[in-house]
Parts: sequence; C-alpha cells; structure tokens
Amino acid sequence: MVQDQIAQLYDSLHGILEKEGDIVLRARLNAFYINGVRVKFDYSNYHIYKSLWTDFQSKEISAISFSAETSEDELQRFLQIWMRKDLPSKGACEKIVALIDSENIDHIAVEKIAPVELNVSREKSAVRLYFSGIHLLKEVFEKQKEEGAFNLNLAKRWMQSIYNHIQDDESFIYGLTNIKNYDDYTLNHSINVCVLAIAFGRRLGLTREELIDLGISAFLHDLGKLDVPKEILDKPSTLTNEERAVIETHVQHGAERLIELKSARRLPIRAVQVALEHHLKADLGGYPRYVRKKTVSLFSKIVKIVDYFDAITTKRVYRPRTLTREEALKEMQQRSGEEFDPVLLKAFMHMIGVYPVGSLVALDSGEIGIVFEANPHPAFYMRPKVKVIADSNGQVIEGEVVDLTDIDAETGKFKRTIVKCLDPEEYGIRVADYFLARAS
Ligand SMILES: [Fe+2]
Ligand SMILES: [Fe+2]
Repeated sequence: MVQDQIAQLYDSLHGILEKEGDIVLRARLNAFYINGVRVKFDYSNYHIYKSLWTDFQSKEISAISFSAETSEDELQRFLQIWMRKDLPSKGACEKIVALIDSENIDHIAVEKIAPVELNVSREKSAVRLYFSGIHLLKEVFEKQKEEGAFNLNLAKRWMQSIYNHIQDDESFIYGLTNIKNYDDYTLNHSINVCVLAIAFGRRLGLTREELIDLGISAFLHDLGKLDVPKEILDKPSTLTNEERAVIETHVQHGAERLIELKSARRLPIRAVQVALEHHLKADLGGYPRYVRKKTVSLFSKIVKIVDYFDAITTKRVYRPRTLTREEALKEMQQRSGEEFDPVLLKAFMHMIGVYPVGSLVALDSGEIGIVFEANPHPAFYMRPKVKVIADSNGQVIEGEVVDLTDIDAETGKFKRTIVKCLDPEEYGIRVADYFLARAS
C-alpha cells in the first residue's frame, strides 16, 4: 500500500516537474503554497491540512523542494526519513538535513523556518506603524493652517505599509484597533477607522491604488471636528438640539478643509465625498440632509460602517458603557438596510467574524481567553486561536495561545470550545494591552 501511494505521489510530482522544472511546497502564514499557488483546503480535507501543518511546524520546516531530476527511489528514501519516529523534538530539521546528505538524496531539500524573531519584529513594526499613524495625523490636525502641513506622499506610504501588514497578518492589525482613547479620541479613532477600512476594502477586492485612496479618505474623515468646540465634543450629558447641530456641521467643515488643503489638487476627490457623506444612512437619512441625493459613494458607505463600529466599541464620557465587538455587530445587523448598506454590512460582519479578534471569551474548559487570531478556514470560523488569560479557577495566568481546532487524542473531541463572549470592562481587562505585550 505504501509503495502504491509513493508511486502515485511520484506520478503527480513528475507531472508538475516536467512542466515547471521544480516544485516548492511552502508553508506560510497558515497556508500551503505549491510554486507560489495557494493550496485550497475545505471542510472535507481539513484534517489533511491540519496534520501536514502540525508536521511542518514540529519539524520546524517551512518548505520542501524537489528539482527536476528527482527519482522515485529518492522520493521513497526521503519519505522514510521524514516519517522516522526517532527525530528529535528540538532540531528535527537539522537531523533531516543531515540524513538527506548522508543518504545522498541530491534532488530533494528542506528549508528551516526562519527564527521566531522574524514574527516578533513584524508585530513590533506593526505597533510602531500604528502609533506613527496617530502622530502623522496629529501633525495634520495641529498644523492645518500652515502651508504644506499635510504631506500626502508620507500619508500614502503609511497606507501602503498598513496594507502590507494586513496582507501578512490581518489578525494582529485588527488586534491593534482595540487600542482606544490613546491621546486624543478623534486621532486614535481615525487611525482605527483607517486600518479597518483598508482591511475591509481589501476583502471587497479593491485594487491597491483604490485602497490607498480609501485609506486617505478614512484617515481624514473627521477632520471637520477641528471646527467643533471641545466642550461640545466631550460633553458628558445629553446634547441640546443646538449642540447636536453644531456637531453635525463637522461633515461640511471637513469637506471644506479638504478642498482648501494645499495639496488638494492631488487629494483624491473621494476623500471630500467621504468627509461629507460618512454620516449618511443607507436610506439617505442621517446628515447632511440632501434635497435630491440619490446615491452615496462606495467609499462613504465603507467608512460609514467601520466608523460606526469603532465608535460604539469605544468608551467616551457620554458613552460610559461600550458594546463588546460581538454586541456591536449584533446591534449593527439590526440596522441593516436602514442605516447600512446590507450587502456591505454582511461582508463586514463576515470579515470581523463571529468572535472578532480582541473578544474576551469563556471556554468550556472553564478558562477565559482573548481571541488572538481568526481561523482562516471558513468551516472553522467558530474556532479561532485564543490566548488563555485565566485558568479554570479564575486565577489570572500568563497562558499560551491555544488553537480551538486542537483535538483531544483520547476522546477525539475538541479540547476547548467557546461558550460565550464576556465584557472585558466587567472583568477590568484592557484587551489592547495583550496585543501590545506581544509586540514588546
Ligand atoms: Fe464623523
Ligand atoms: Fe468618525
């Protein structure tokens, strides 16, 4: 049987080798790639993916490559090495390399996973990038009147870097949007809106150039808040009608300021639309009130959704009780069609997931954890990766990040399952701290 399987594998490899010269099977960011093309797994063969992935991880191997001259005999000897039971748990990769050498297997090679530091520095640089965005925007807000205060190219490069980070590790960058009320609310909020808008736009299939324009638009969507007195913006009690009207003017002021901006000629015109339209509802209610408006731009609809989501999940003097991310999605769903474009909202909810990154969750093991990473496989969207922060006795611990698809070998059942979402407020937990700690 084994011989048969190897012969079949060899045939498939040979077919590709003849066409492409060589084959590289690479494991990267929770996915497998054959010569750069992502291998699709679904519910039915997920167990194959999972065992292969675990195998690669435990052997610390990131890729196997086969060159054109690979023979069936070599493949067989390589697999014998790969499946040896006596490989050390530390240094398996080195051992495999040594065995490949001593067996004179010349056409098959393995590549070791780059040191973990690589990941750490990626997270560190994401955090640095996040805060540099706040400072960049602060400059724009503070020096608005000065000539050339807004460096559009710098902002575009920043969007580009955010985009790259999202492509590398979407979850971590969502995690950062749990940072709230750092420095000035409007600045922190605008950065979250910007990051979420780029991530959302990417899911919607916008091009790289469009995403940069969308990012710039989101970045500056509340610029008009500069024209609203702080006392009104931060008023803890209910606003009077007059005060509410003043706040609502931020959309016109924002659009005006953007038109006036020195670099306005190169600013995407859509940024002006977004500033003006991001409080318009899908049914054209909201503000500003138009006499004859028929459509709202796509960018405005996108920013409307992420803006609302970030706002209701942020604590403010006038909003002491915030919604958890899960509750926020529920409440938004109830306003689908009236407040939000239903199709876009659906896509947004799909992106954020049932258990959004940063949610505090109770597990059936009695432990409490924070959702760190969404499961990339749609079939397992209920089973993200979770960092355990309290054990089953309620004791706060520095727990590990566990994968909820892990199965207990004895019972054959999942080791842990989410029971419900908890409110971090109630437990005095600042979720963002856990993401920042991971990058330090
Ligand atoms: Fe706004
Ligand atoms: Fe906003």
